[in-house]
Amino acid sequence: MGWLTGEKQAGQMDKTGLPRHVAVIMDGNGRWAQRRALPRSAGHRAGAENFRRIATYCKDLGIEYLTVYAFSTENWKRPSEEVGGIMSLLRKYLIESVETMARDRIRLRFLGDTSVLGGELRELIVRTDEISAKLGADCFQANICLNYGGRDEIVRAARAFAAQCAAGEKQPQELTEADFARYLYSAGLPDPELLIRPGGELRISNFLLWQCAYSEIYVTDTLWPDFDEAAMDQALSWYRARDRRFGGLSKKQER
Ligand code: FPP
Repeated sequence: MGWLTGEKQAGQMDKTGLPRHVAVIMDGNGRWAQRRALPRSAGHRAGAENFRRIATYCKDLGIEYLTVYAFSTENWKRPSEEVGGIMSLLRKYLIESVETMARDRIRLRFLGDTSVLGGELRELIVRTDEISAKLGADCFQANICLNYGGRDEIVRAARAFAAQCAAGEKQPQELTEADFARYLYSAGLPDPELLIRPGGELRISNFLLWQCAYSEIYVTDTLWPDFDEAAMDQALSWYRARDRRFGGLSKKQER
């Protein structure tokens, strides 16, 4: 990469045709640590640092939303020490964010059932929500999926809608896809055009099941802590070359 090959250096990305919303399954932290004979916690620490790096990069590129999978409804099955370590990293990140997000003009939003989290974490989420609300809608927004599951999100939305039907406030036959989306954690967000999965696994892992219906899916063997700006440039270049048909025909096929 560089002047010899004619490729652009990371950070000199052509900003046309970029997605508005990028979603990332931050996978591979454990393997990253294992390869260095480090504990898994070191991998998550490197993963959290990388979230900061990639969020900053997305913001600089003019991408509007970055949504990451930090902790799934299934991740509670991991050893309590690992779960506690991830929660501590989130706490640390939020304490720092309260200080810096207004200055850096970064809004944060949490998607998932945060009601079961520890008190301090919940208070920090309330605090970052307050700061985010004061920042304009033109600011970059990072969405952190925490105690999030795609199926859980859809079931909760269905329950909320059913309750309104039972109360006589809504009519089942009047529900549209756009209406239903307003019951999801992601209400108001555009769907991600690009879903990135580092770590090489070819699955969606219960992430944004509704929202990724037409997302372009980019999988790379690079592990999340190693997924740097140059790796992001590659994913974005790949995305730009995609022919997005949404079940229809491409311009070429129409002729
Ligand atoms: C998946 O890698 C990663 C997770 C389950 C945790 C991700 C959490 C963080 C990066 C920390 C907190 C985040 C923020 C936003 C500050 P894995 O452990 O399944 O990796 P493996 O497949 O290599 O074992």
